[in-house]
Amino acid sequence: MTSVAIPTDLQDAARSARRVEVFTGAGMSADSGLDTFRDATTGLWSNVDAQAMATLDSWRRDPDPMWAWYLWRAARARDAAPNPGHLAIARWQDALTGVSDSDGHLHVTTQNIDDLHERGGATDVSHLHGSLLAFRCSECGRSAPEPDLLTEAVERLTPQACAECGGPVRPGVVWFGEALPEKDFADAEASMLSCDLVVIVGTSGVVFPAAGLPELAVRRGVPVVEISPAATDLTQLSTWSLRTTAASGLPELVDAALA
Ligand code: APR
Repeated sequence: MTSVAIPTDLQDAARSARRVEVFTGAGMSADSGLDTFRDATTGLWSNVDAQAMATLDSWRRDPDPMWAWYLWRAARARDAAPNPGHLAIARWQDALTGVSDSDGHLHVTTQNIDDLHERGGATDVSHLHGSLLAFRCSECGRSAPEPDLLTEAVERLTPQACAECGGPVRPGVVWFGEALPEKDFADAEASMLSCDLVVIVGTSGVVFPAAGLPELAVRRGVPVVEISPAATDLTQLSTWSLRTTAASGLPELVDAALA
């Protein structure tokens, strides 16, 4: 993806920002080799029925296909490496928290269930849709040890049984219709209500309540920059839209912010 020029007013806004909120989706991890959900050709949903593989009803009806799919996705997430976009976010966060004369801060709100932000060096990350790499009993809720992950995709696999109650162990992700983790969502809301710049990276902005969060900052008059190769449902609330990838656009934005 070609690099894009950072508009002068965006350079100024990035340089003067002291409380940055970075809001990310699957496109953030695309440059690490992990498929997005809705990209027409490569997206996970292009060959998997989202409703069949990401709802509690499906799990209760037949957990085996979901268990196999999530263990395969967890293995791919485990094998993926943070990309220059993840590293740039951590570099910006370090610079802001290192500024002695101000309460500089960068918070990350992600819809992603991989741990690439953390492995890229970011701290203070809120995961709105849980984690691929956390497991718990779907009956008693007790956390469960990480099972052997699947490096090859298989159609079905019976979930391991909870050591305490025998119930089927599930991945620690949020399925459609399930409540989002309260603290992560509250922290994301608080950040949108206190930030002075929002950076939206790699999300189509179609899944609520997550996609409604940037509006909280926009209502306060906070500028928003979107980094995505294609227009999204959040483009219309963005002050700037950089039509490029996370791995290309974020390093350039952070270079401008720290220049
Ligand atoms: N860099 C940045 N953005 C990219 C890149 C890239 N290299 N490649 C694709 N994108 C953009 C796409 O243009 C799209 O706008 O990333 C976005 C990915 O959108 P989705 O696939 O819908 O993913 P996301 O917005 O994270 O989905 C939200 O839906 O399926 C549920 O729970 C799941 O968290 C997920 C939620």
